[in-house]
Amino acid sequence: MDLKARVRDVPDFPKPGILFKDIMPLLADPPAFAFAVDALCARYTAADIDVIAAAEARGFLFAAPMAIQMKKPLIPLRKPGKLPGATRSFKYDLEYGSAELHVHADAIRAGSRVLVVDDVLATGGTMAAACQLVEHAGGAVIGCAFLIELAFLNGRAPLAGRDIFSLLTY
Ligand code: PRP
Repeated sequence: MDLKARVRDVPDFPKPGILFKDIMPLLADPPAFAFAVDALCARYTAADIDVIAAAEARGFLFAAPMAIQMKKPLIPLRKPGKLPGATRSFKYDLEYGSAELHVHADAIRAGSRVLVVDDVLATGGTMAAACQLVEHAGGAVIGCAFLIELAFLNGRAPLAGRDIFSLLTY
């Protein structure tokens, strides 16, 4: 299955000079979407995983079907103001400004083995923050899974020492 043929290049989005990888064609193609989810899950068939976590929003698109297929609980890591209960949070710097991810304080049991999923690994800032939030909440990150890795942005650097898998590399 040629998944890259279902990822559309959009020049100058969201800012001039950025070549955006648009996954909407892949999501709109059920056999391609299923193939991608199957391939991501296959990488972890032998892995000892307790839960799957993902950062809002596009990470949810892959983490949710993976959680169903792998029969694991799904823990969404959400942007501020979205979760009704007491939360733990992690604030991180972006190129301009900062962002914050939250998780319910009781969502992750101490020592839980967590697979963190996202659609794209770019600079690695989002995944690094997601992993630190999971660890702050008592979990152990056993892997980071991505549909797409933009290798030229060196997003593996802030994830040094972590087990990383990406299905498509550019
Ligand atoms: C995108 C993408 C990843 C992140 C990758 O999310 O879904 O989470 O950027 O970039 P990084 O490796 O440089 O952190 P975005 O912030 O656009 O939010 P969205 O998922 O809500 O669209």
